[in-house]
Amino acid sequence: LSAFFTAKQLAGQHLLITAGPTFEAIDPVRGITNRSSGKMGFAIARAAREAGAEVTLVAGPVSLPTPRGVRRIDVQSAEQMLRAVEQSADAASIFIATAAVADWRPALASEQKIKKDGSGEVPTLAFVENTDILARIAQSPRARAGQLYCVGFAAESHDLLAHATAKRLRKQVPLLVGNIGPATFGQDDNALLLVDAEGHRELPQASKRVLAQQLVAEIAQRLHRPAA
Ligand code: CTP
Ligand code: CA
Repeated sequence: LSAFFTAKQLAGQHLLITAGPTFEAIDPVRGITNRSSGKMGFAIARAAREAGAEVTLVAGPVSLPTPRGVRRIDVQSAEQMLRAVEQSADAASIFIATAAVADWRPALASEQKIKKDGSGEVPTLAFVENTDILARIAQSPRARAGQLYCVGFAAESHDLLAHATAKRLRKQVPLLVGNIGPATFGQDDNALLLVDAEGHRELPQASKRVLAQQLVAEIAQRLHRPAA
């Protein structure tokens, strides 16, 4: 991979990337969230920066250090993540959505802590759907004109190839990356399945650092190819 560092394959590019989970408040002391360590997204941000890209990293609540030279925007909820992404999207030439965004948020977050009243009765939560950040950005005029290359991620419990293929078409992104293996959450190793218009290809088990470098190289290649 030594050529990787000398080649600066992403020089002149601006990567916008989401990482980590989102946190959706129920009340001031409680909320719901998704499982995600943020490690893969942070590794990609670092690899892209090392490959010469300008990098903006929109991070949900994670405990990870900011990669050197990366601009980081911390957010909690999916709505905050969407706003941060929309504010940075115009300057970006690549968007990668690795965040595990909560699909739903409580319809009404209580301003005060919900108290047990001693009766044993349990609260009922109503949910509303969060905006799909990736699909929203993929439908923007710049993405549709080929000026913003969008990449999605998918973590599936089963039938990865079928789900990843369907997700790529549904979100209308040129590249969708599947996490291979049952429990990759928080692990330092992973394997990835790359699904694009031409088919699919596997990046075999390696550290997230190495996979991130390989993925950056794959994306750099595709940027110089006519859109399929
Ligand atoms: N994503 C997003 N905003 C959302 C939900 C998902 O940007 N509100 C992005 C994720 O960051 C990921 C991709 O969409 O890149 C796929 O997310 P995933 O949760 O696997 O797909 P969903 O469309 O939400 O479908 P489901 O959870 O039902 O599998
Ligand atoms: Ca989801």
